[in-house]
Amino acid sequence: MPDLRIGGAGGAFDVVVRVPGDKSLSHRALLFAAMAEGDSLVLGAGDGADIRSTVAAISAVGVDIERRDGEYRLRSPGVSGWTAPAVPIDCGNSGTTMRLLAGILSTSKARAILTGDASLVRRPMTRLVDPLRALGGRIDTAEAGTAPLEVGGAGATIGASIDIPMASAQVRTAFELAALAVDGPSYIDSPGGFRDHTERWLHAIGRGAWLSDTRFRIDPGPIPPARYEVPGDPSSAAFLWACAAIHPGSAVTTPGVSLNPGRLGFLEILEHMGATISAEVTGATGGDPVGDVRVAAGSLRGVDVGGDLAVAALDELPLVGVLGAFAEGITTVRDADELRAKESDRIGAITSLVRALGGGAEERPDGFDIVGTGFLETGTVETHHDHRIAMAAAVASTRIPDGIVIRDAEIASISWPTFYATLEGLWS
Ligand code: S3P
Repeated sequence: MPDLRIGGAGGAFDVVVRVPGDKSLSHRALLFAAMAEGDSLVLGAGDGADIRSTVAAISAVGVDIERRDGEYRLRSPGVSGWTAPAVPIDCGNSGTTMRLLAGILSTSKARAILTGDASLVRRPMTRLVDPLRALGGRIDTAEAGTAPLEVGGAGATIGASIDIPMASAQVRTAFELAALAVDGPSYIDSPGGFRDHTERWLHAIGRGAWLSDTRFRIDPGPIPPARYEVPGDPSSAAFLWACAAIHPGSAVTTPGVSLNPGRLGFLEILEHMGATISAEVTGATGGDPVGDVRVAAGSLRGVDVGGDLAVAALDELPLVGVLGAFAEGITTVRDADELRAKESDRIGAITSLVRALGGGAEERPDGFDIVGTGFLETGTVETHHDHRIAMAAAVASTRIPDGIVIRDAEIASISWPTFYATLEGLWS
């Protein structure tokens, strides 16, 4: 599927759609299970290419992992028994696989080289170096501060206290998982707004505690084998929520998604823009609230997004660009310079997407401005090999009577292999 022709304006819909397992929690559940000595089970994990990168990496360090009937069964010697792989571990397009694994390996005896695809080997990895070395962990980047990374084979490791300058859940998690293997407690602080899945889980198993809203203590020690149930992915559901928001009279309900506050910024933005939201907590998993979300269309107006809200909606900001084009007034996103370090430079990619479809968009150093005209036109969108850009374009296409062309559209399979069929299925 090199290029995809998609779109054409559909009518109103009101449907219930179950979305794939949460990507952040799938990576974490699989890695936690691989770190624990014994047998673990992971249910409901996503099956995108990024998750397959984590599964392959786990297998490469000597953990038995098998997929049966959509469940992963793992048998692990525990992280202290992981073995050094003979060849580099290919993390594909997955920054989460690389950064979390680098953390765990850095304070372990197993030495490995971590590499990835053309996009991943351009992404910044120096942000991991000081935190992991503070623990006595071993990590070296390539000269440009990027992958390939050489990690592991650590000597003496010791608890450390660090303060990181960005609200990165990946860096926090890398440090926290590395800190489980060292001598003595460790502490981490950062700006707020991040997804705190790892901290909630560490707290739930008695390996950590909050000291303030952002400062967390890690108490080292082994982690128990467990059965993990991965809830639905709010970052995937967001594409359907956005689609309902731009189709007058429409609504979509997504049952059983993670309601971690660090993942809900986009719902807050949708509400500010004029959509109607209801969310009901139905349970919890690993300390994370889980529930059903319904989004109904409204007449959309532009918004100004910044601060912690930009962090808590970071992966959904491409959709804010699309929604901004269909809203009335200007939409501004600021404080989101991290977008430049994602699978693509998302600030450039979003503004080009909107412009390619006849809309008005300007880059800011740390975000973008979108002129809301209420409509977009046919055109061809470059995905920059970024799944979220491809899927955001597909959402826009559903309001464009002549449809659009999406280049390199199969990149959506990084997080949601059946996304285009699900999107078109909203009208069937
Ligand atoms: C993720 C954290 C976020 C997010 C990424 C997944 C995670 O990145 O953008 O898609 O699973 O921890 P940063 O922590 O680098 O901001």
